[in-house]
Amino acid sequence: MANQTSTQDIYGSHRPQMEAVLERLVGRVADLRESMKEEMGLDPIEHILSRFKSDASMRDKLARKGLPQTTEAAITQVYDALGVRIVCGFLNDVYVIRDHLIADPEFEVVEEKDYIRHAKPNGYRSFHMIVRSSKGYYAEVQLRTISMDTWAALEHHLQYKRPHTGNQRLIVQELKRCADELASTDVSMQTLRDAIMGEGYDVRARMPEDYVSRD
Ligand code: GTP
Ligand code: MG
Repeated sequence: MANQTSTQDIYGSHRPQMEAVLERLVGRVADLRESMKEEMGLDPIEHILSRFKSDASMRDKLARKGLPQTTEAAITQVYDALGVRIVCGFLNDVYVIRDHLIADPEFEVVEEKDYIRHAKPNGYRSFHMIVRSSKGYYAEVQLRTISMDTWAALEHHLQYKRPHTGNQRLIVQELKRCADELASTDVSMQTLRDAIMGEGYDVRARMPEDYVSRD
């Protein structure tokens, strides 16, 4: 006899409400982006991605965690069925967005992991938040810079394409070195932006002059 739980959608009747919550969260971030753009005169976000964890990966995750294959476990024991990734050009914007998100009454922050100030041993950096919507659903928000995002993409490949040549240890070491170099470049780029945008230097006022051809 067919096992009901393995043939039905793991999210059951909750799926449409969860989709709405994800859309709402992305909408909140988009609003925030617009207001920051007006305030700073610069777009703080490079791109935003969102994803609804598939039925199959949710089932895998439940199995990995030794949890039952039930809708209730998928909704209350796993916090990243809904995921939003916000990629910023500059480091400080990660924290400004984080500060705005924690002030949002519609999404309560239930956990934060600052893998930027406390990088993982492999060099992974990102700011993670678990939020709970007023509708009761959890979502994971990942905030990072472009550099961190590029690094994470490459490191993610390594998890699936393990080199056969025995140079795994060297690759892991080199990846860690790249992560640290990128982190240091992120700080330098932020310092440069502060110097350019800082008080006493109105970048927009200077632009026409700077763009005049000198020949
Ligand atoms: P999960 O059981 O996977 O939810 O782990 P966790 O609750 O300890 O979450 P954590 O905040 O450590 O990581 C959540 C997500 O961040 C992962 O699903 C990945 O998308 C991403 N992530 C965390 N660590 C790494 C890493 O070392 N490399 C890459 N590429 N991504 C990572
Ligand atoms: Mg998680």
